Amino acid sequence: MTQLHFQRHRRLRQSAGIRAMVKETYLHKEDLIYPIFIAEGENIKNEVASMPGVFQLSLDNLGAELDEVVALGIPAVILFGLPAEKDAVGSGAYHDHGIIQKATRLTKERHPELLVVADTCLCEYTDHGHCGVVEGEQILNDPSLNLLAQTAISQAQAGADIIAPSNMMDGFVTAIRAGLDEAGFAHIPIMSYAVKYASGYYGPFREAADGAPQFGDRKTYQMDSSNRLEAMREAASDVDEGADFLIVKPALAYLDIIRDVKNNFVLPVVAYNVSGEYAMVKAAAINGWIDEKAVVLETLLGMKRAGADLIITYHAKDAARWLEEK
Ligand code: PBG
Ligand code: ZN
Repeated sequence: MTQLHFQRHRRLRQSAGIRAMVKETYLHKEDLIYPIFIAEGENIKNEVASMPGVFQLSLDNLGAELDEVVALGIPAVILFGLPAEKDAVGSGAYHDHGIIQKATRLTKERHPELLVVADTCLCEYTDHGHCGVVEGEQILNDPSLNLLAQTAISQAQAGADIIAPSNMMDGFVTAIRAGLDEAGFAHIPIMSYAVKYASGYYGPFREAADGAPQFGDRKTYQMDSSNRLEAMREAASDVDEGADFLIVKPALAYLDIIRDVKNNFVLPVVAYNVSGEYAMVKAAAINGWIDEKAVVLETLLGMKRAGADLIITYHAKDAARWLEEK
């Protein structure tokens, strides 16, 4: 009889015990960062229509949400604010009693060990909805930097543990690092949205955070999805400017970029599993078209396999629960 030559890969898949022995990638609840939207006002708990399970919360409802996050063993939250008023220069972003500053103080008082990541941007606070100051239809780079540094300092003063600038102005890490250092916050790390593409996947977030641009789009500052080498230039400049973590955003359509950043740099890599990615999974799950638990855990594991050390995700609470069950 002819001896067929082939490999028996199934040897290492034959039982749960053997599969566990050869498992290469793990997802832990410690990898997760949970985004929370905080609105100025009272008694607010508005579910975001395109993001089932995600709410805009007023400060009086924030405590219960934080308690749940802590009980689930999620180590960090990233906070986004909906101010009562907006203006041309986004004053609400760097006001001592701004919504994020108040939410940060409340969080650190209630749960000192829960890490607060502050998203540093102006778009939720500007009446034009852009991430920097504008002149006519232009989004100005350098005049925005000082406001972003001021925002980071005021977030650090409120107790933020990590500053996460998402604005995509050139030089934002340099400006924020210098501002933090001068203000006595040399110990506060910067988690830079180093590689952020102009993406249709941010749609639901703009509803959740009320931060849609009122004219034009963000293509003069966020990246073109076609580009891979440009992502390396963006990451390299942020490393050079003193970033401590590198975020790649969105995640699902950019897993190759996550791997490139992981292979080319030595900083922790953070994948942002964005609002549109969450909305798609939720919509299919609600329709009964997919097994939500299986799909969410597989997606998050895929991001880790691509090279992410940490994942910012709206699925964090569910994922932490499911990981505990297993
Ligand atoms: C603000 C910001 C955005 C997101 C995070 N910070 C929106 C944008 O840049 O338009 C998107 C997050 C998500 O879609 O989940 N600069
Ligand atoms: Zn922005």
